[in-house]
Amino acid sequence: MLFSKKPPAPEVDLEHLPRHIAIIMDGNGRWAKKRHLPRSAGHSAGSETLRRIATQVKKLGIPYLTLYAFSTENWKRAPEEVSAIMDLLRNYLREALRDMDKNQFQISFFGDLSALDPDLQALCDQVGEVSKKYPQCRMNICLNYGGRDEILHAARAFAADCVAGSADPEALTEEEFETYLYSRGVPDPDLIIRPSGEQRLSNFLLWQAAYAEFYYTDILWPDFREADLLAAIGAYQQRKRRFGGV
Ligand code: IPE
Ligand code: IPE
Ligand code: MG
Repeated sequence: MLFSKKPPAPEVDLEHLPRHIAIIMDGNGRWAKKRHLPRSAGHSAGSETLRRIATQVKKLGIPYLTLYAFSTENWKRAPEEVSAIMDLLRNYLREALRDMDKNQFQISFFGDLSALDPDLQALCDQVGEVSKKYPQCRMNICLNYGGRDEILHAARAFAADCVAGSADPEALTEEEFETYLYSRGVPDPDLIIRPSGEQRLSNFLLWQAAYAEFYYTDILWPDFREADLLAAIGAYQQRKRRFGGV
């Protein structure tokens, strides 16, 4: 295997890129296990991949990137692992603030941030606020995010508006319901990438994924590179999207 070459990435048509790519950043734990390292080392390597891939998405001119960083179910993990992930997020966001004018991402968060440590919540608010000046490339970080939780949260807010008299259940449309989701204002993902060999959504973007194209690869997230993103985009460009039509 040492000398085996990866197949060349398929030709990518730079004129017809997906507008919104979403990634389930999975496989950090297995990457670390293979190296006899603690799981936190896998998360740390995964955060490096995030930096590289976000830079590439921006260079390609793709306006929306959504990243699944921590799910509503990930609290089931050992407290040391959860705090290692939260520390990496803290570092990532502090760095994002420092390098804001160089990287130029608008950063938003999908998820229930109220369960996070207060300092991390404050950091998320600050990053969200300061980065509003860079709307050309929008990065959505899913943090304590669950698709079901998002839909419940929206249903509760909508019901409250109905009780208050500012919304009408009979008149509710898909478009109006979407304004209650964490993703309001963001178009649905065109392409959802999941590395690590798992072929499931794991509670990611349940509403928004209705017509997304899925791309799975066995590569673990810390090993995912620019050529792998191009391979995913190339595969996406071979698909025929019908949206229920013919
Ligand atoms: C994804 O990698 C990162 C998070 C869920 C936070 P995992 O930690 O799930 O890695 P595996 O699936 O155990 O390899
Ligand atoms: C999904 O990965 C969540 C993130 C990548 C943040 P998991 O590793 O938690 O998903 P399962 O448990 O394999 O379904
Ligand atoms: Mg996993």
